[in-house]
Amino acid sequence: MLTNLKPQPADKILELMQLYRDDPRETKIDLGVGVYKNAKGETPVMRAIKAAEKQLWESETTKAYTGLAGDPAFAGAMRKLVLNDAVDGARVAAAATPGGTGAVRQALELIRLASPDARVWVSNPTWPNHLSIIRFLGMPMTEYPYFDNATCTVDFDAMMDGLKDVKAGDAVLLHACCHNPTGANLTLEQWQVLSAFLAKTGAMPLVDIAYQGFGDGLEADAAGLRHLAATLPETIIAASCSKNFGVYRERTGILMAISDQASGTAVTQGNLNYLNRQNFSFPPDHGARLVTMVLEDATLRADWMDELESVRQNMLSLRTQLAEELRQRTNSGRFDFIAQHRGMFSRIGATPEQVQKMRDDFGIYMVGDSRMNIAGLNSASVPVLAQAIAATC
Ligand code: LMR
Repeated sequence: MLTNLKPQPADKILELMQLYRDDPRETKIDLGVGVYKNAKGETPVMRAIKAAEKQLWESETTKAYTGLAGDPAFAGAMRKLVLNDAVDGARVAAAATPGGTGAVRQALELIRLASPDARVWVSNPTWPNHLSIIRFLGMPMTEYPYFDNATCTVDFDAMMDGLKDVKAGDAVLLHACCHNPTGANLTLEQWQVLSAFLAKTGAMPLVDIAYQGFGDGLEADAAGLRHLAATLPETIIAASCSKNFGVYRERTGILMAISDQASGTAVTQGNLNYLNRQNFSFPPDHGARLVTMVLEDATLRADWMDELESVRQNMLSLRTQLAEELRQRTNSGRFDFIAQHRGMFSRIGATPEQVQKMRDDFGIYMVGDSRMNIAGLNSASVPVLAQAIAATC
């Protein structure tokens, strides 16, 4: 039977990780996979997570199963973090998932259960794994324009025009903040226009929030999503803790589905539980428990917020430094958008050939669409990258 299998296409981001590892050059720079790195190139366990882990080791008495939707305390803490008081908590069904990717996958399956012919609208570009999962599920998909390659900013008019055929029963996939791969984000005013449009069409927003706290801060990064949730009857949210809590390998995420009325929540919750049971049964608990402890303990929470803010500030100062270096080297403001983008990524508008040339000539690894992970830089490597970009692009 296994001889019938055909090779699957490699995931470009994960393939790049391997190419980087295999490159013997000491001067190589990894701007590929979206993992935060400090100036030493390390991805440390965050202090509050480490402290929670110690407490947990001392206090945990069982590894027996939690519920199918995970620990309700995790759902409560995450609802507060992502939505604050934008909606009545009684309208929110939630289930822990293996990472944000697990939440995206379960969200799409939930949409398909509710609306078997749902078309999923995705930004062009979007995280490649969004496309891959939607294709794998066999759901119809349409791309809407999002990024203007010439200016490296959001082309909002084109986006709204591209969405004009969206109809009730469809789902529109959105990035709450720190758009992956571009780094170009909607303004709050644009979220408001989008929300009014979605209200008119009756389509379901599916919002992926994987980088809360990495862009403009914990509250600002959720503001557009909160506006949608507060004004629309229904919203589905896939949230990841991988980045903002640094618990990548613990696979910690949550799917939240907001029903129009609190009376609808029980059925929605039952469907989330059902989907978890079909796909993996009980969700992973360790990372979720650590996140809950950090969010619920005032001291741990303050320390986590402090460390997260320094991570954010570090990325912002790398952005400013890189934009400034490029301004000097190109004698132009061509790359000023790097300082305006937010989050881990910027798509710099280089061609695949230029990306390849930077890899060959300078050992700089960025994704083929010219997405670079800003957190892969430090103050010493910024000038090296600036020189490579100025010489190649
Ligand atoms: C990325 O886009 O690099 C991250 O979200 C990691 C991944 O799984 O692709």
